[in-house]
Amino acid sequence: VAGSRIIGLGHYQPERVLTNAELATMVDTSDEWIRTRTGIVERHIARDDETVADMATAAARAAIADAGLEPDGVQLIVVASTSVMDHSPNVAGRVAAALEMTSPIIIDINTACSGFEHGIAVADAAIRAGQVERAVVIGSEKLSAITDWTDRTTCVLTADGAGAFVLEAAATEGEIGVGPTVWGSEPTMSRAVIVEDETGNKFTQDGRMILRWAMSKASGITRDAVEAAGLAMDDIQVFVPHQANLRIIEPLAEQLGLTDRIVVTDVQVSGNTSAASIPLGLSKWWHEGRIPSNAPTLLFGFGGGFAYASQVVLT
Ligand code: ACO
Repeated sequence: VAGSRIIGLGHYQPERVLTNAELATMVDTSDEWIRTRTGIVERHIARDDETVADMATAAARAAIADAGLEPDGVQLIVVASTSVMDHSPNVAGRVAAALEMTSPIIIDINTACSGFEHGIAVADAAIRAGQVERAVVIGSEKLSAITDWTDRTTCVLTADGAGAFVLEAAATEGEIGVGPTVWGSEPTMSRAVIVEDETGNKFTQDGRMILRWAMSKASGITRDAVEAAGLAMDDIQVFVPHQANLRIIEPLAEQLGLTDRIVVTDVQVSGNTSAASIPLGLSKWWHEGRIPSNAPTLLFGFGGGFAYASQVVLT
């Protein structure tokens, strides 16, 4: 098999919307601070009884239906998440059970905010190797469960949601819609994002350090991903970076010369949903008719690990 292509997109967001104004009643912050520093206006928060697996299942169901398939049309489930509380069964296994599938391969990935792009790489490799014909790759997060709701430096950023793509083996060279992944990590920054026992399993980050890293390293990584796909930056029509902060997304688009293209910015209404942010943002815009078909789309995830991954896909 020469490669894979995307044949379905889906997403899920919990109903409850938490506004900046509400947050300002919980911690010492303001709508103005949050808007100017992050671009975030509101975010969705899951119900107490709603799990990462529930949201992953809803997004997968939507993506599989969008592809015109039944769940058993997919042989591999890859779930990216950094807010899973249980070790076993993994989230992919829970999705398989919820969708009443027969015998899919079930894999979870934990590379935080770049997890979804790692998932695309793994699914694409399995398809190229001829081991599966179709895969669903899901990013799902319940960051509200690992958020310290008394810490104003982080609780204004994090949110919940899920997004998913269905990938299928491309029949011909001309159909290939997933480019090679440029992926790796920055071990010297392994403690830039932490969710561990010492913090009571609550999310903390060195926001400044991450901002600096993104401004100095992102352009090289994404340029390599575009080149690996045999394209030039001029060919890119859609840019979907991890939705951490408008103050990273906008300068990044400027650095790459992409400000006149479609730059997906969903963080304003969805907050930072880590591994879910890229598929959630792209699926929403796709279903709203804001993304053309077959558009070369540059994905770029970065965060906890400290890990990153980038690839070009055709919508
Ligand atoms: N409301 C009001 N004031 C606040 C708030 C708040 N919610 N949070 C912090 N402040 C105060 C601080 O205490 C500080 O006050 P001081 O100057 O008196 O000490 C001041 O505001 C500035 O704080 P900084 O942390 O320096 O603010 P900064 O401009 O760096 O913005 C932010 C912080 C938004 C976190 C930014 O650094 C950022 O977005 N970084 C990138 C993070 C990222 O991309 N993470 C992605 C990987 S992890 C993941 O996605 C899950």
